[in-house]
Amino acid sequence: MLSEMLTTGSVVVHSLCEVSTAMLLLLLLLFLFITSWSQTQSSPIPGPSFFAGIGPILSYSRFIWTGIGTACNYYNNKYGSTVRIWINGEETIIFSRSSAVYHVLRSPHYTSRFGSKRGLECIGMEGRGIIFNSNIPLWKKTRTYFSKALSGPGLQRTVGICVSSTAKHLDHLQDMTDPSGHVDALNLLRAIVVDISNRLFLRVPLNEKELMMKIHNYFETWQAVLIQPDIFFRIGWLYNKHKKAAQELQDVMESLLEIKRSIINETEKLDDDLDFATELIFRQNQGEFSAENVRQCVLEMVIAAPDTLSISLFFMLMLLKQNPTVELQLVEEMSTVLDETAVENIDYERLKVMERFINESMRFHPVVDFTMRKALEDDDIEGTKIKKGTNIILNIGLMHKTEFFPKPREFCLTNFDNPVPSRFFQPFGCGPRSCVGKHIAMVMMKAILVTLLSRYTVCLRKGCTVSSIRQTNNLSQQPVEDEHSLSMRFIPRTTQPKLDKL
Ligand code: HEM
Ligand SMILES: *[C@@H]1O[C@H](CO)[C@@H](O)[C@H](O)[C@H]1NC(C)=O
Ligand SMILES: *[C@@H]1O[C@H](CO)[C@@H](O)[C@H](O)[C@H]1NC(C)=O
Ligand SMILES: *[C@@H]1O[C@H](CO)[C@@H](O)[C@H](O)[C@H]1NC(C)=O
Repeated sequence: MLSEMLTTGSVVVHSLCEVSTAMLLLLLLLFLFITSWSQTQSSPIPGPSFFAGIGPILSYSRFIWTGIGTACNYYNNKYGSTVRIWINGEETIIFSRSSAVYHVLRSPHYTSRFGSKRGLECIGMEGRGIIFNSNIPLWKKTRTYFSKALSGPGLQRTVGICVSSTAKHLDHLQDMTDPSGHVDALNLLRAIVVDISNRLFLRVPLNEKELMMKIHNYFETWQAVLIQPDIFFRIGWLYNKHKKAAQELQDVMESLLEIKRSIINETEKLDDDLDFATELIFRQNQGEFSAENVRQCVLEMVIAAPDTLSISLFFMLMLLKQNPTVELQLVEEMSTVLDETAVENIDYERLKVMERFINESMRFHPVVDFTMRKALEDDDIEGTKIKKGTNIILNIGLMHKTEFFPKPREFCLTNFDNPVPSRFFQPFGCGPRSCVGKHIAMVMMKAILVTLLSRYTVCLRKGCTVSSIRQTNNLSQQPVEDEHSLSMRFIPRTTQPKLDKL
């Protein structure tokens, strides 16, 4: 990124601009130095020392250059389960011990998140939507509509939609297969999940491929701008491409909502259970939400699953291949449950091996590794004094690998043989600001996996494992997509549903 900055910089930008950039950087350093000067030099919380303002600059640089997730793991591994660092000059505490994590998750004093204001404005999340909305009254109201859409009748429709969407995409697998017989599995899963999200929450005909690409670019922008210093947003050649990527997805959402409005207009009588988009459009008509907020809410609802769930499923397919006995167990369980009924009517509660597999996958190789919060009140967490306004990061991924589980560093279903007390396993968080999609996400993963695995087994390229492929851990943990190593062959299972050949 640095070299990209330098080369693009010298080609495109006049030297005058470079001088002012350097000046701004200097000013930033000075600013960090002065604002931190008054802080106490020795803090009882472990972490890098302040050292005349150098500590804050070094820790912030680490977050910017290595990604948020990687930096958190670095500091927890170096200083222990509670670490104080600085992000953009702000004191930030990273927790990875379950007792502290559980306290923060369940407390009403941490319902806010932190992030660069300019960055959040760039992606439309500042004071809007739900995910990074820190306008607490508005967030609360917004969250009730998300909850409603993600539970109850919405949840019941989910299985049928997941099964039919997955089946439809598998029927057209040929279109996604390259001449060597490989499928870009991650993009296949994204396409399935985008289609499901649309059919659940929006219900407007759309161009799947185009939307997928724009969601992907929006996510890249999100993680690129989230903790940048303000000067980043004044440097045109750095910032403009991100502004453009965010704008493009917002424009698509706007046009999809226009179509939705006219569909609603033409419909004589609407269903009793309104979909998410319809509900929000009605709220807008009644003056409860602004048009921008409605657009952002629908945008976030549509990107939530493609950004998390599709990548989780991708890792699960890899882990399954690395653990053939688990695949055998899974397929056996599926055939017993499937023998009696159609995929749509399966009692998903009965898929116990499946649930342990999903849990163990999310524990061993999570997509969402940490969550970001802000303290709204002074607090004391097991002797660590928290000042109001302090940034908090909960390193849940590391927590899952350092406490409670019998084989913490291995992928092994026995980790879930015994019931796990909830404080030790929190892949979705809990409490007031937890993942609002946690129940629907489990249902979606089960329904997609059952449909996929009852028809196909996958075959990875030689030597590809979750630990060998290149990955980044910025805002979430993801594979690097610029190589072939992610593609898979999809091999039809010869006998259904009894499977003697794997
Ligand atoms: C495997 C899939 C998923 C994982 C691992 C996951 C994980 C998470 C986590 C860890 C958080 C932060 C919770 C916290 O701060 O305590 C979160 C927030 C959120 N998730 Fe999920 N999630 C998944 C799927 C979904 C889906 C399918 C949806 C919706 C369709 C969704 C919607 C949201 C929303 C809206 C928030 C923000 C909630 C708020 O700030 O109030 N997630 N998710
Ligand atoms: C973090 O994300 C940005 C945007 O996607 C990317 O340019 C950068 O390379 C990432 N950093 C790391 C260390 O992966
Ligand atoms: C809805 O229909 C009415 C009458 O047919 C029209 O005047 C109005 O502009 C339409 N509104 C939208 C949002 O399409
Ligand atoms: C899987 O994890 C969820 C929490 O996300 C928990 O409620 C459930 O009991 C776990 N299932 C098994 C079989 O351990």
